[in-house]
Amino acid sequence: MTVHFIGAGPGAADLITVRGRDLLARCPVCLYAGSIVPAGLLDHCPQGARLVDTAPLSLDEIEAEYVAAHEAGLDVARLHSGDLSIWSAVAEQMRRLKARGIAYTLTPGVPAFAAAASALGRELTLPGLAQSLVLTRVSGRASPMPGGETLAAFGASGATLAIHLAIHALGRVVAELTPLYGPDCPVAIVANASWPRERIVIGTLATIEAQLAREPIERTAIIFAGPGLSDAGHRESALYDAAYQRRFRGREGA
Ligand SMILES: C[S@@+](CC[C@H](N)C(=O)[O-])C[C@H]1O[C@@H](n2cnc3c(N)ncnc32)[C@H](O)[C@@H]1O
Repeated sequence: MTVHFIGAGPGAADLITVRGRDLLARCPVCLYAGSIVPAGLLDHCPQGARLVDTAPLSLDEIEAEYVAAHEAGLDVARLHSGDLSIWSAVAEQMRRLKARGIAYTLTPGVPAFAAAASALGRELTLPGLAQSLVLTRVSGRASPMPGGETLAAFGASGATLAIHLAIHALGRVVAELTPLYGPDCPVAIVANASWPRERIVIGTLATIEAQLAREPIERTAIIFAGPGLSDAGHRESALYDAAYQRRFRGREGA
C-alpha cells in the first residue's frame, strides 16, 4: 500500500500531469482539499472510490485515513493544489507516514505562479532585465516568516517577486516595496489562474491598491512585482543566437 501525493495543478482539471491522472485512476481512496482542487479531477477516480474532502479535517484525522487505508491494503491518491514543493503541507504528512512505515511517492504539479504567468502571457525571466524569481509570501497570524525572509530583503535584490497568500495584505506589500522599486514599478495580480473565474489586474505600486479597491480580490491570488514585468525592451536570449547555435548546437547532444 502506498500514499501517492499528487500536485493537482492550479485549477483547470486538464492541468494535472498524465502521471498524476493515471495514479488517480488506479487508487481506490482519494483525499483532496475541496476548496482548491477542481471537482472535475475526481472524475478520474475509479468507480466506487472513497473520496474524502480534507478541508474540514485535522492532521490527526488525515493520518487516521492513511492508517485505515494501510490496514485495508488500499492505495491512496492525495491531491494538493499546484505543486507539492511549495506551501502544500506535504512535509508534515510525509513525516507521519515515515514514522509509521507507510510508503509514499510524490508526483509534481503545475504551480500556481506558472499558470498565472501563462495567464499574463509573460515569461518571467528576460535577458538583461530579470533573471531571478522569488517565490515568497508575507507573514500571517498562523505562520510568521523566518527572520531575514522579508519583502525588503528580497526587494533589495531587484528580482521579480511572486508573492503568494498575500492579497489580504496588499497595502503592506505596496508600502514595503515602494521605497525599493519606486511607485512606477509594475505590479500584476492574477486571481484564480486557469479557473473560469480567473481575473487579472495590472498596474503599478502607485495605482494597484485603488484599482483593487473598486473590485476587491479576497483570496487565491498571486501578486507579481518587479522591474522585470515592464514592457521595456530586453535583449534577445543567447540560446537562439546564430553564433551560439554554431558553437554549441551543431554537435549532437550539445
Ligand atoms: C497554500 S498556497 C498553495 C501553493 C501551491 N502549492 C502551488 O504550487 O502554487 C495557496 C496560494 O497559492 C496561490 N494560488 C494557488 N492557486 C492559485 C491560482 N489558481 N491562481 C492564483 N494564485 C493561486 C495563492 O497565492 C494562494 O493563496
